[in-house]
Amino acid sequence: MTTRTFSFAGRTVNRVGYGAMQLAGPGVFGPPKDHDAALAVLREAVASGVNHIDTSDYYGPHVTNRIIREALHPYPDDLVIVTKLGAVRGDDASWIPAFEPDDLVRGVEDNLRNLGLDAIDVVNLRVMIPGNADHSKPGEGSIARQFGVLAGLQERGLIRHLGLSNVTSAQVAEARAIAPVVCVQNQYNLVQRGDDALVDELAAAGIAYVPFFPLGGFSPIQSSGLEAIAADLGATPMQLALAWLLHRAPNILLIPGTSSVAHLRQNLAAADIALDEAAMARLDALA
Ligand SMILES: NC(=O)c1ccc[n+]([C@@H]2O[C@H](COP(=O)([O-])OP(=O)(O)OC[C@H]3O[C@@H](n4cnc5c(N)ncnc54)[C@H](OP(=O)(O)O)[C@@H]3O)[C@@H](O)[C@H]2O)c1
Repeated sequence: MTTRTFSFAGRTVNRVGYGAMQLAGPGVFGPPKDHDAALAVLREAVASGVNHIDTSDYYGPHVTNRIIREALHPYPDDLVIVTKLGAVRGDDASWIPAFEPDDLVRGVEDNLRNLGLDAIDVVNLRVMIPGNADHSKPGEGSIARQFGVLAGLQERGLIRHLGLSNVTSAQVAEARAIAPVVCVQNQYNLVQRGDDALVDELAAAGIAYVPFFPLGGFSPIQSSGLEAIAADLGATPMQLALAWLLHRAPNILLIPGTSSVAHLRQNLAAADIALDEAAMARLDALA
């Protein structure tokens, strides 16, 4: 069995949290097709013990944060809300990098207003290095200027803790020389293991590693090998993908995204799955 909690951003959070991106409309743009269902997912998550929710004001834009506020405000004392900055949305649903100091300040203000907060628990600098061909993967380049702006907003009391997203080990080190980093949110899952070394490095430093696309993202992982192991163990493939992450390292916190209460319940139940060495070896071999 894995440990169920992790010390994160000054609180103790359950390792299975919730990622709110799926609550916006198609393409993470506009309103959800079922507003009440979106509220129900959030309320069920918190009622079931989720106390770590990941969001961004550019989901919708503004939509996801406003739904979180409608569903959960006033927020439970133990809830850690994590948002991210680094983009705005075009009218055509495009994702436009927004890293100038004014963009970052405006981004914090938008999150505060739409979430109904005076200070945000955690803000991740979501990095997009200019010229990098694939913005779902990190590229090398300095992030000191942008992270310095967030550190300034932290000093002003608008942000409690700082994190990073889509970054390399060198960028984590660069940021940590400026201010403490409580989490790193990069793409990682059972079949996308490019961050194996970074997961271990952050575990040694006591920093949370929060994989985005833990189930594979918009097209969840499809693998006949995973289906076979899931059938043998009496779990769903998605539950095993999450259980594997929980067993992979103690600093991994999960934020699976779903717009469905039924899927939410399945995902939360992944914390109850114990994987022995043989099962882990079979799952490791799918990478
Ligand atoms: N930092 C970044 O750049 C970044 C990028 C992407 C995402 N994120 C964050 O990471 C979170 C997780 O990523 P994600 O939501 O994109 O991807 P994900 O969690 O890997 O997968 C979400 C997909 O899996 C489906 N799903 C969820 N639970 C399921 C289950 N039990 N059985 C079958 N299908 C299931 C969802 O559909 P249903 O709605 O039908 O359940 C949705 O299509 C996001 O919500 C967001 O907060 C961050």
